Amino acid sequence: MIKKFRLGNPIDTKAVTASTEIEDVKNFPLELTQEERLVVAFSLDNDAMIFGLGESVRGINKRGWIYESWCSDETEHTEDKRSLYGAHNFIVVSSENGKFGLFVDFAGKVEWDLCYSQPNEAKITLCGSDADIYFIDGETERDIVKQFRNIIGKSYIPPFWAFGYQQSCWGYAKPSDFTTVRDNHRKNNLPLDCIYMDIDYMERFKDFTVNRELFPDFRAFVSDMKAHNIHLIPIIDAGVKKEEGYSVYDEGHEKGYFCKNADGTDFECGVWPGIVGLPDFLNKEAREWFGSQYRTLIDMGIDGFWNDMNEPALFYSKKGLETAREKLRDISRADVDIWKYFDMRNAVTSIQNSMDDYSSFYHNIDGRTVCHKDVHNIYGAFMTNAAGEYFEREYGKEKLLIFSRASYIGAHRTSGIWFGDNYSWWEHILLNLKMLPSVNMCGFLYCGADIGGFNKDVTEDLLLRWLALGVFTPLMRNHRALGTRAQEAYRFSGTEKFADVLSVRYRLIPYIYKTFRRCSDEGDMMFRPLAFDYPDDRLARETEDQLMLGGECMIAPVYQQNKSGRTVYLPEPMTFVKLSGENVSSQKLEKGLHYVEVELNEVPLFIRQNKKIPLASPALNTAELDTENLKYIG
Ligand code: GLC
Repeated sequence: MIKKFRLGNPIDTKAVTASTEIEDVKNFPLELTQEERLVVAFSLDNDAMIFGLGESVRGINKRGWIYESWCSDETEHTEDKRSLYGAHNFIVVSSENGKFGLFVDFAGKVEWDLCYSQPNEAKITLCGSDADIYFIDGETERDIVKQFRNIIGKSYIPPFWAFGYQQSCWGYAKPSDFTTVRDNHRKNNLPLDCIYMDIDYMERFKDFTVNRELFPDFRAFVSDMKAHNIHLIPIIDAGVKKEEGYSVYDEGHEKGYFCKNADGTDFECGVWPGIVGLPDFLNKEAREWFGSQYRTLIDMGIDGFWNDMNEPALFYSKKGLETAREKLRDISRADVDIWKYFDMRNAVTSIQNSMDDYSSFYHNIDGRTVCHKDVHNIYGAFMTNAAGEYFEREYGKEKLLIFSRASYIGAHRTSGIWFGDNYSWWEHILLNLKMLPSVNMCGFLYCGADIGGFNKDVTEDLLLRWLALGVFTPLMRNHRALGTRAQEAYRFSGTEKFADVLSVRYRLIPYIYKTFRRCSDEGDMMFRPLAFDYPDDRLARETEDQLMLGGECMIAPVYQQNKSGRTVYLPEPMTFVKLSGENVSSQKLEKGLHYVEVELNEVPLFIRQNKKIPLASPALNTAELDTENLKYIG
């Protein structure tokens, strides 16, 4: 049972598609303070758990930290952080005394003090007084999630080939960089469906352009890759380079489609291309205009995109630079002691993604001027909606791949997400796992992390272990930053091990795809905490490094270095399966704790009692995958 409460006159975030009657605020079941800031508070029993908040740091159980919904270009996903790229304002509170869900539909910043200041108190503070708040009653956590998913609409379904393995790297620039990746995968029997084009393909980092010197005949290049069953997926950034004669900029500027300063001039800031204008995605006309720009690349044969830097990430603004310069000038006149040294450093680092900048530019929402900081969390989502809605209208459903870095609930209907700039750290395999059920709760099904880690240097064993989790995530992409150790699957001595693990992905695609579609249709979660399936089992409730997958499986990857296996908890008897290339070994295990051994070229999987899952034969890409002749295991 869902109750909707409207406070003030909220901005339409487009998160909810169902029309729900508005209840009298007097009946709001939790403590509610309505002043300049709305505050929702409630007490929790010692045993109560809190699930949700989508893309965030820390555990599956969110209790015991303070989070902030504020789409952030956060380069270090460590547990001291409060925000990552998405703002996913949905939680489920679960205790023996009852369960409920809460969705705070609000486009500005929200602070979630979940038993951080007080051990048994939760306090949710909205930076504003206008919001829709939904309270959801339900018998089980899964049922509460389904009710919520039912009001926010069905999740985006990408084309089938987007379930294949994908290789990316910031730094692939010339055609031979791409053909080398393609050919080396083939040569080594490593399956592959997509290669990503990071900012290097563009002309001076200008959206919807292709560097003609590098790609004199881009259309022919795309078509040649397609002939090898490889889809090229270019990146699109939010900021549009300020350059006279660049038609996208000129048109956006002339039509007034960029965000504005208080005096009505275009707000300008620095990102990869240098100075950019930020398209006002909250202005319907500007949104439609930006969406239609993707056509330039689609007409050249491109059928997938990833939207980036759309929190929006701001390296600097003109004003920020000027303030920093002034500070540095002041400091340079004095002797530099240790405090002045820190001031000096801060003067430079604090200009990136600064609240001063976010508070200084404006949107035009249906004729109403709104300060960016009040709608910050829907900016990236509306960019991606611009693309997703255009694709669906012009090309039909399930035709184009699109996923985004920043997001808000609602964008799950038009796109997927990836989890941004993680590290080649073992603990980030675990963070990847923990985020999966939380983002699923919020509707995001097509998702995944940068496998192998984006920042810093990978090791062969890290990549293999991470891939063994990645074989289950709908988006399975290996991506890394410029200047880090190469991490394509053919770069290491044990190339056959990589072939073994990647083949498992293709063997599982029919199962993963079917489960994915069902979860989109039914508003269900593909990945669930064990707590959702075994609510009365204390050990299961507290398990943070295993997940339920679909109706049939449990996954438990190895996520520590130099380990021959791991301890796993089985809340019921299961079949322990190890998949590697063509090989499948299975063993029945009783309920309880077990140490299971897993080689680097094996993917561990646990199948529930009386359940079976299909396996296809290995294939080198989805076009060659036989989805008809399946073998069942369990
Ligand atoms: C951002 C993205 C990353 C990309 C880089 C360069 O950091 O998150 O994936 O490679 O920009 O475009």
